[in-house]
Amino acid sequence: MRTNVFLSSLALSSSLTEAAKLRGRQDVVTVTHTVIEAPATPTPYAYDWAAGATKDVPIHNSCNATERALLRRGLSDAIKLAEHAKDHVLRFGNSSEFYAKYFGSAPTAEVIGWYDKIVNGDKSGIWFRCDDIDGNCHQDGWGGHWRGENATQETVICPLSYTTRQPIEGLCGFGYQVATGELNFYFGSDLIHRLLHIPSIGEGVAEHYADSYADCLELAVSDPELAVRNSHTLQYFALDVYAYDIALPGEGCTGRTPEEASDEDSSPEPTATTETAPSTTQTGGTECHTHADGEEHCV
Ligand SMILES: *[C@@H]1O[C@H](CO)[C@@H](O)[C@H](O)[C@H]1NC(C)=O
Ligand SMILES: *[C@@H]1O[C@H](CO)[C@@H](O)[C@H](O)[C@H]1NC(C)=O
Ligand SMILES: *[C@@H]1O[C@H](CO)[C@@H](O)[C@H](O)[C@H]1NC(C)=O
Ligand SMILES: [Zn+2]
Repeated sequence: MRTNVFLSSLALSSSLTEAAKLRGRQDVVTVTHTVIEAPATPTPYAYDWAAGATKDVPIHNSCNATERALLRRGLSDAIKLAEHAKDHVLRFGNSSEFYAKYFGSAPTAEVIGWYDKIVNGDKSGIWFRCDDIDGNCHQDGWGGHWRGENATQETVICPLSYTTRQPIEGLCGFGYQVATGELNFYFGSDLIHRLLHIPSIGEGVAEHYADSYADCLELAVSDPELAVRNSHTLQYFALDVYAYDIALPGEGCTGRTPEEASDEDSSPEPTATTETAPSTTQTGGTECHTHADGEEHCV
């Protein structure tokens, strides 16, 4: 015990100036008394409110080292997107044109809350696994799936994800634009969707209410209280504001839907369209997952 005290006082002193060292040495006397009086082990009655909780998404043992590293990286991208989306709303509230575009007249707190759950919520009991336990990964275009009724807190990530999903550093690159790009083009935004499907995060209400970009903008006008809990809207908003604030500051890469582009050739600003465009299927690869009711969902 004496050795411990002496070592810690050395560590303390080494970071102080000459003058402060004198005071540091005096502190040793005080510290020694404190340590001797303190019980050697914590009291068995100690209550640790955070015991068993973790902010990190648990990655299952079925993931090999490569999968684990790439998944950890993708999850960290999801956190960066969600954290910035939250910060943008905290900073600008509903005066943000992005906020108005995606969430209309809805109050901001629910939006902040979903992103905060992704960043700071307890992830214990969740598993992201790599063993294709439900035998779905062979299906064309499957990057992973929520396990639904087989294990509501679990998500399978298929090998396709590791070879196709882009890192957040590539946001606005590769010709990607928010209005026309795939929500799963970036691993981080794909994983935001998968996280929202997990009951302890999405609470069964952050769900699918509108899917295409045009439909999400329409939802902001027609049903703002659903827009704030629409999983695709939460993905689009996070991508759009990260692109504009961080990736290409003051510029971003919102782009325009084919409908917007033909309607109005001169508009450089993203504008919410109230016109109901038929939900066109996005081009490129598909992403599928199965929902609780067994419904297979491909985007
Ligand atoms: C924005 O929020 C304020 C309250 O902070 C509210 O009075 C106002 O109506 C909101 N504006 C819109 C367009 O929702
Ligand atoms: C649940 O497990 C069954 C049997 O293994 C499988 O057929 C089904 O597709 C699984 N459900 C999901 C959502 O993967
Ligand atoms: C780990 O998983 C990746 C992606 O699923 C796979 O390509 C690779 O061969 C695996 N590595 C080992 C050592 O099994
Ligand atoms: Zn979904």
